[in-house]
Amino acid sequence: MRGDGRGSSEIPGPPADGDGGAALAEAGGLHNYQLRLHAEYGPVVRFPLPGAGEAVSVADPVLLEATARIDRRPEKLFEFLAPLQESGNLQTIPASEHGPWRRVMLSVLAGRPSHEAHFAAFTGLASDLADRWAARAAEGPIALQKDLSELSLQMICRYALGSGLESAGSAARVVSAFEVVLTEYLARAGANDPEGTRRAEEALTYLRSTVDGVLAAHRGRGTGEQAERSDLIGALSAAGESPARIRDTVLMTMLAAHHTTGVAISWTLYLLARHPDAADRVRAEVDAVLGDRDVPEYGDLKRLTHLEMALKEAMRLYPPGPYGAREATEDVELGPYTVPAGTTIFYPFWAVHLNPEYWPDPQAFDPGRFGPEASAGRPRLAYIPFGVGPRSCEGSALAMVEAELVLAVLLKRFRFDLAPGQTVTPVERFVLWAADDILMDVAER
Ligand code: HEM
Repeated sequence: MRGDGRGSSEIPGPPADGDGGAALAEAGGLHNYQLRLHAEYGPVVRFPLPGAGEAVSVADPVLLEATARIDRRPEKLFEFLAPLQESGNLQTIPASEHGPWRRVMLSVLAGRPSHEAHFAAFTGLASDLADRWAARAAEGPIALQKDLSELSLQMICRYALGSGLESAGSAARVVSAFEVVLTEYLARAGANDPEGTRRAEEALTYLRSTVDGVLAAHRGRGTGEQAERSDLIGALSAAGESPARIRDTVLMTMLAAHHTTGVAISWTLYLLARHPDAADRVRAEVDAVLGDRDVPEYGDLKRLTHLEMALKEAMRLYPPGPYGAREATEDVELGPYTVPAGTTIFYPFWAVHLNPEYWPDPQAFDPGRFGPEASAGRPRLAYIPFGVGPRSCEGSALAMVEAELVLAVLLKRFRFDLAPGQTVTPVERFVLWAADDILMDVAER
């Protein structure tokens, strides 16, 4: 890739022979490969992406600013999601369609009314899980990711479908139908398995008809302003989105929300178990804020600052989504380099979070990095677990509420000790996931 006289330096990277598939496989996935490339070639790297030509990855938060307004994802990298969507792929719909949709999403997902409205239901689900763990504790270690992803899926189903679930289908059936769609449709895409495909299609039909049922109930009773600000389906409907787009949104929200939130909580518990001093600080804070209550109220969360810092530090070290991607809509100047329009630009979130220039001793778990003094002066894009710009995560604020609530409930009730003899290896499977789960001995405090 050569410049044209503006940023005229050539972007460094590995030799451009082959399609990069071998190097990527050898590194154990794109997230690891990006770490290696940036360690070897610096903050801006070009590399061949199998089947998609040449891509550029940017791990410097200051240079990233030049890309932060790009409002387009590369079609090809997200086409695996297309079978889930009836109204166009939400990950890649054009900016003119995406902008209005995003605004409605944010009007609900990012706002306090919706967090408060669902807080009691979330608390109930977290307490149920704690009860199940307490009953099972003596039988051996708990698999954190499995249980916490399931909890997150239950929460997001309640959030997206609300009380409509009682009339339109049971929450448990929605959760298991969604799991069928995930395993049969996405994880095994391309496998020639007519029975699996039939099961997935049946599950998808069930999920879509459940959303239709909730939508019909909404139309029947109309929605007030308060409901619109706390109710995703109501707000989408009031904004004039089509039923197909509403069904797609619910599915995409469930997909985007549950493993990400589940692993964020799991990694936090894992890191706290390995760092007793930090764990003691968080536990003391939870005890002080909750007093003799088992569960927090919504208003308590803002006082759980050590807990929030530990969660943020866990998402720095293990960003649930380890990278994102854009397609340059015009030439982009990146310091001495020019990236031509049409190039796939990667956001290597993991490499950004481990950039030693902004994160001294980057592998060390230190929640204090997120205290006000340590954060002052750090570039805005040095910490981007929820992505960048107009395609960043609409659920970030909700995810923080969910994760903090669950952590507070669990840390108030249990001691966590890593089950001995396990190796915890981060791998990418949609999210940054521990390959063999994280096994934890839990004991009531
Ligand atoms: C800890 C939990 C979560 C993490 C770390 C996370 C992270 C991310 C990341 C990295 C992206 C891609 C951003 C980019 O390309 O710049 C994304 C997209 C998205 N996330 Fe999240 N997410 C989380 C939870 C949630 C939740 C709870 C919801 C919804 C309730 C949600 C909804 C979405 C949606 C709809 C998108 C697509 C954005 C778009 O294309 O406009 N996420 N998320």
